[in-house]
Amino acid sequence: MRRRALTGIQPSGTPHIGNYLGAIRPGLAMQESHDCFFFIASYHSLTSQRDPVALREQIRVVAASWLALGLDPERTVLWAQHDVPEVTELTWVLSTITSKGLLDKGHAFKDAASKGNADVVNVGLFLYPVLMAADILAFNSHVVPVGQDQKQHLEMTRDIAERFNRLYGDTLQVPDPLIQEEVATVVGLDGQKMSKSRGNGIEIWLPPKQLRKKVMAIATDSTPMEEPKDPTTCTVFKLYSLFAAPEDTLALAERYRGGNFGYGHAKQALFEVLDAHFAEPRERYEAILAHPSRIDEVLDAGALRARAVARETLSQVRDRVGLGRMRRA
Ligand code: ADP
Ligand code: TRP
Repeated sequence: MRRRALTGIQPSGTPHIGNYLGAIRPGLAMQESHDCFFFIASYHSLTSQRDPVALREQIRVVAASWLALGLDPERTVLWAQHDVPEVTELTWVLSTITSKGLLDKGHAFKDAASKGNADVVNVGLFLYPVLMAADILAFNSHVVPVGQDQKQHLEMTRDIAERFNRLYGDTLQVPDPLIQEEVATVVGLDGQKMSKSRGNGIEIWLPPKQLRKKVMAIATDSTPMEEPKDPTTCTVFKLYSLFAAPEDTLALAERYRGGNFGYGHAKQALFEVLDAHFAEPRERYEAILAHPSRIDEVLDAGALRARAVARETLSQVRDRVGLGRMRRA
């Protein structure tokens, strides 16, 4: 039997190159070797998104992004989290075996709580890691491609699965994260972790003019043009190396070290490599997004397939805890 890969992306805006390199590209690369389950984490976004129109739109944006980048809906299951209610039901069962102390350690909640805004510090955000555990465990996932920021959530998922198995007997597959070192934390315009909430992202579908403007806005130091520069500490170089061929990356490093080479030149090279990388999928993306009802059809078909799997897990879980297997609806 093929191993199962699963990952989720929140519909909280257009994906940026951190999402692309950390989760989307490694996920898509697994389509050949794994049974792939990719979903749009709509209920996770609901912990912060208060605009219904934007939420609906962003679900389609993320779905269209996966499809444009090469997700094959015949092979890979793509759905929206809220269309598989078995996952939220499993969340409840898992919450009853999760200690509050474990969730108190959660970075996402601690960060929000330290900012103190009552609307942000909601119980949904506190339970967020349990919902994420249910996402993963409902599908008996073996491997979960994510960025470094999700490492703690994966550890919590493993803790919860192991605890369930200890209490009720071997039932849930304990998953492994797949975090690729070079792209574990992609940096953004300000040199910090690229993230939608920091506003330092380079979105993957920007048209060339806007993409160029974003790239030109990357913060660099004030070393004068004539002087040699250190590529290893430069955000522009780091991003370039993630997209360019190894020999082009080496050549750019030489130019940094040689002097008489300004950051403006490096930024132009980065813009060109990004534009070339995304030009073709960007056209597909625009075409897919122009037909929202077709996107919805893909998501509906995916939800049916996903539900069949999640239902089987939930039925086993219910049986193990003493509620008996689910009757056919
Ligand atoms: P964001 O942090 O921008 O809100 P999400 O939380 O929706 O993005 O993340 C979706 C996926 O992209 C997750 O697997 C996450 O680990 C990954 N990811 C997000 N930002 C980065 C980054 N800067 N570098 C690598 N992976 C990232
Ligand atoms: N929490 C993840 C993020 O913010 C999104 C997510 C939700 C996820 N459920 C998941 C990722 C399950 C992997 C597996 O990026």
